[in-house]
Amino acid sequence: MWFYILILLATVCTLFSQELPDYLKDKKCSLSNDLKSCFIKNGNLAIPLIANGDAKYHIPPLNPMTISSIQLITTPNLQLNLTDIKIFGLDKMIITDIRFDWDKNLFTITLTGSNVTIEGLYTADGHVMVMPVKGRGKFSIVLKNGEYKVTSTTEIIEKNGVKYHRPTSCRLTYKFGGIDFNFENLFAGNDELSREINKFLNENWDLLLNDFGPGIADTISSIIRNIFEKFSDQVPIKNFFLE
Ligand SMILES: *[C@@H]1O[C@H](CO)[C@@H](O)[C@H](O)[C@H]1NC(C)=O
Ligand SMILES: *[C@@H]1O[C@H](CO)[C@@H](O)[C@H](O)[C@H]1NC(C)=O
Repeated sequence: MWFYILILLATVCTLFSQELPDYLKDKKCSLSNDLKSCFIKNGNLAIPLIANGDAKYHIPPLNPMTISSIQLITTPNLQLNLTDIKIFGLDKMIITDIRFDWDKNLFTITLTGSNVTIEGLYTADGHVMVMPVKGRGKFSIVLKNGEYKVTSTTEIIEKNGVKYHRPTSCRLTYKFGGIDFNFENLFAGNDELSREINKFLNENWDLLLNDFGPGIADTISSIIRNIFEKFSDQVPIKNFFLE
């Protein structure tokens, strides 16, 4: 009987004050000692490890990240739905800067990704600027030389007297060096017209950011938020840092 109670207690304790996974334990930084450069260095070592996914922390694999569907654009001018989506290149993102504002519980992380590629199936109906766009088929969107700045605010909550971070907002701003669009089978097999439209999209990628950017930013920031949420939900603040 005692044995079972002990196991039960042990399970409850690990539930409420879990550690970071073993592969991240040696990536902790000290709060008192050059946190910024330690975080950039160890964070970059951690990204490919986290990208393998971790069922215990409910973190899905990130190379590629799969998403079943997104309504990427829902404006009066254009509807663009994506399904069977795979996002490649998140595991190769690099942290270039981090800022902490402890008084406001505000964190800003800047990452770069030279090639984040989104692939899958699309259905589209409407206009992009003056060009009609209508069709369904395979697509790819290649975000080239992106810079992603994630700003997150958190609140501190207590569970059983132990403090945890909980993200309250997560906002992403972005810049790209270029975007390659490829939508196959626009206009039901009229390849000539399809090529023309893809060429037009690629030449005008920066003007199209108004339409495409918010959906892409929402998707990427919710992936990043999700990872942070899953860890911070299970790992108390003190276990994120070296004593
Ligand atoms: C970008 O990533 C995609 C998916 O991994 C790959 O197919 C493509 O070759 C890459 N492009 C470049 C220029 O590296
Ligand atoms: C996109 O999905 C929405 C919701 O399922 C649907 O109402 C709309 O017709 C779809 N648009 C296209 C172009 O497939």
